Amino acid sequence: MRPLPNDRVYNFSAGPAMLPDPVMLQIREEFLNFSGLGASIIEISHRSKEFDGVVEQAIALFRELTGLPENYHVLFVHGGGRMQFSSVPMNLLGGAKKKALYVETDTFSSEAINDAAAYGEVKVIASGKKDGFSKLPAVTRDLVDQDAAYLHITTNNTTSGTAWRNFPGADVRGDVPLVGDSTSEILSRVVDYSNFGVVFAGLQKNLGPSVTALVIIRKDLCGKAQKITPPLLNYATLAEKNSMLNTPSTFNIYVAKLVMEWIKKEGGLAEIERRNNAKIKTVYDVIDASKFYTGVVQPAHRSHMNATFRLPSEELTAKFLKEANQQSLYALMGYRTIGGIRASMYNAMPLSGAQALASFMKEFERVNG
Ligand SMILES: Cc1ncc(COP(=O)(O)O)c(C=O)c1O
Repeated sequence: MRPLPNDRVYNFSAGPAMLPDPVMLQIREEFLNFSGLGASIIEISHRSKEFDGVVEQAIALFRELTGLPENYHVLFVHGGGRMQFSSVPMNLLGGAKKKALYVETDTFSSEAINDAAAYGEVKVIASGKKDGFSKLPAVTRDLVDQDAAYLHITTNNTTSGTAWRNFPGADVRGDVPLVGDSTSEILSRVVDYSNFGVVFAGLQKNLGPSVTALVIIRKDLCGKAQKITPPLLNYATLAEKNSMLNTPSTFNIYVAKLVMEWIKKEGGLAEIERRNNAKIKTVYDVIDASKFYTGVVQPAHRSHMNATFRLPSEELTAKFLKEANQQSLYALMGYRTIGGIRASMYNAMPLSGAQALASFMKEFERVNG
C-alpha cells in the first residue's frame, strides 16, 4: 500500500501528473535545509558545487538508466515540451538540409507541425487524422525523403492514447535522424536511444514539475542551428555550458534527479516497464470484457501510459467522473477534443491505483450497464 496519508488521491491526471510518494516525502523533508546547508534547493546558487552535483548526478542517472551512448548530450532546457516544437527545427534545419518530415498522430504532433512551419519546409508524410487518431499511420521507406534533416514522431500520444511499439528503424528512415517527442512516456520503458537523433520530454508526467524539458541529442547533430536560434534554445551552446547558460529551474532538475534515483531503486526501466504494462492491462482487461466501455484506440496501438475509453452516453460519462472522484479516483476526464475518459497511469501510479479504477469500473457497469 501507499506510504502517504489517506488524503492523497489516486491521481490519473495526464499532466502535470503524480510523482512517486517517496520522492514527494523526500522533497518535503529536505525543502528547508538541502544537504545540510541550512538553505533550500531553491535558495542556493545554480553555480554552487552542491547544485552542480545535482545536475551531474541527474545526467549520470539518465545515462545509467537508459544506457545512453556516449555520443549523446543530455540537456535540461526551458519552455517545457512545446518549446522543443520550435527548438528542433531551429537547431536541425540550419545546415544543407532544409526539409523536415512529420508523422501526425494527435494534438501534440499537430502543434509540432504548425510550430515547425515557421522555420523550414515541413512535410507531413503520414497522418492518423482520418481515423480520428485511433491508430498510428504506417511509415514506410518510400515515404521518407532522404534529403530531409529529420523525421519527427510523438512516441506516446497523450490525448488519444496511442504509442509506438516499434519506432521507425534505419531500414525505414535510412539516414534521416529520428526525433521523438517522449513528453508523456520518458523513462517508462526500455528504449534503444541510439535509434534517435533527438529525444525531448517535458518533465511533468514522469520526471518532475512542468516547464523544464530533458533533451538528448546526438553530438554530430549539434552545430547546425539556424542563425536566428536564441542562445537559450541552441543545443550546442547549452551543451557547452552544461545546460547552465542562465539560471535553470534548480528545483525541477533536483526533482528529476530524485525521481531517477527512485526508478533506479525500484529496479530500473525493465521493472518500470513491467509495472506500466501490468497497470494498463488491468484497465484494458475491464474494457475488453465489457460491452459498456469502448476503447478509443485500436489494441495494437494502445499506449502503456494513457488508457482512453468511452461510456454509452455523455450523462453516464459525467456520472462516472463524479462517482470516481468521490472514491478518490481523480482527474479521469478525457482530453477536451476527444471526450470520454482518460486514465493516465505514469510511472508513479501504483498498481493498486489501476486496480482501484478497474474495480470501480466493474461496479459502475454492474449498476449502470
Ligand atoms: C506528447 C506531448 N508533447 C508536448 C506536450 C507539451 O508540453 P508542455 O505543456 O510542457 O509544453 C505535451 C503536454 O502534455 C505532450 O503530452
